[in-house]
Amino acid sequence: MSSTTQTTPIPLSRKPVGRDSPETKTACIRTFGCQMNVHDSDRIRRMIQDAGYAEVQRYEDADLVILNTCYVRENAVDRVKGHLGELNRLRREGRVKRVALTGCIGAAEESATLQQTYDIDLILGTHNTYELAEFVGLPTMQETYTPELPGTEGGHNAFVTIMTGCNYQCSYCIVPTVRGRMICRPMESVLGEVESLVAGGTGYVTLLGQTVDAWRHEGKRFCDLLEAVSEKAPRVWFTTSHPSNMEDRTLRAIGERETIVKRLHLPVQSGSDRMLRVMHRGYKAERYRRKIEVFREAAPDGTLSTDIIVGHPGETEEDHEQTLRLVEDCAFDSAYIFKFSPRRGTEAATLPGTVPDAVVQRRFLEVLRQVEQNAFARNQRKVGGEEEIYIRHGSTEDGKAIGETWSGHAVHVATDLAPGNYVRARIESAGPHVLYAGEPSG
Ligand code: 5AD
Ligand code: SF4
Repeated sequence: MSSTTQTTPIPLSRKPVGRDSPETKTACIRTFGCQMNVHDSDRIRRMIQDAGYAEVQRYEDADLVILNTCYVRENAVDRVKGHLGELNRLRREGRVKRVALTGCIGAAEESATLQQTYDIDLILGTHNTYELAEFVGLPTMQETYTPELPGTEGGHNAFVTIMTGCNYQCSYCIVPTVRGRMICRPMESVLGEVESLVAGGTGYVTLLGQTVDAWRHEGKRFCDLLEAVSEKAPRVWFTTSHPSNMEDRTLRAIGERETIVKRLHLPVQSGSDRMLRVMHRGYKAERYRRKIEVFREAAPDGTLSTDIIVGHPGETEEDHEQTLRLVEDCAFDSAYIFKFSPRRGTEAATLPGTVPDAVVQRRFLEVLRQVEQNAFARNQRKVGGEEEIYIRHGSTEDGKAIGETWSGHAVHVATDLAPGNYVRARIESAGPHVLYAGEPSG
């Protein structure tokens, strides 16, 4: 799963009330980590709204603060500690009254230490979010963190969880510990949710899970589900996938089906077979390359992104060279590059062969440079073409909205149209991360 850290608040579904009326209870939700957490925060948001809280954006305006956290790398924990320190201060000043911590840190052992160090009233993991209901004064609910529970409603972009947890045991990864084993949501349930979302105005559905392509249920496989969803929703994407589960049939469907965005996120982690074995990834670099060939053939104009870890214990210069070679061969349009971060409870945290920080930093920059060179060159090829652009985020002060082409490229475009609309515009220039469109023609 791509893990951009989101600390900026998620757009409000209701107007913030602030502290204008003394009776209004207020709550602030901060989300860290991946799309799964963004999605869980939507559920939490509905819960606090049902309990009569108005949502506010600043800690100092909130009676209750909920931190929905990520544990995947150490710096994620450090950031949360910074927020907890700030909340302690606000508490001493009598502003914030209660603090709850949810999500992946909450599911990890380390949360007990955090609770002792900081003033945290409630800690919840990823499987007992329903306990928050009681905490905010709602009647106790049944377990709500099941794949059955519908997520976002009515938004232009909706995330639909199709599976939770993960059955892999990658050496470095804490996710199976904090999210549990894979549970796949039944097809009818997913399709039912997609139908009601689309009827409610949703224009873009993203299927969500740690390894969506591992989804299977009653003889159906992920591609069956994707095809069925692509017939019901006007625009569809999915994330994240695992190379061992990715079928050629799915890759071809991305190219063939008009409603599927031609964008693939397929984490490779390393280009070295030796490292892939140490990481327990279950595939070799050659197999990954073949998948990418199928994708590029199916969707020549499409975008490909990946996750790469540099500095996993035991990574040699030769392993690193192989990663650079793979990056060059696959010509990724973007990549999330991570420095290895030891997570207590994972196998890699106990492995010998720690890579010195300075070496990790150099390798990180070398991979980054390689990715950016390729991405820039590929983006240049889009210049001059006219594109249909879906508006994802409305325009900011500079009048530029952020949109997405059907090939999955991010585009800045001058329009004041709201998210969910389409515009046509010519691509005038390109950087390594984004395309820039001229005046829309329609
Ligand atoms: N250290 C560094 N990167 C990690 N990831 C997961 N665990 C770790 C770790 N311990 C990265 C992987 C994964 C992405 C979501 O985060 O690349 O695909
Ligand atoms: Fe973690 Fe590996 Fe599962 Fe991805 S596939 S969530 S990296 S264990």
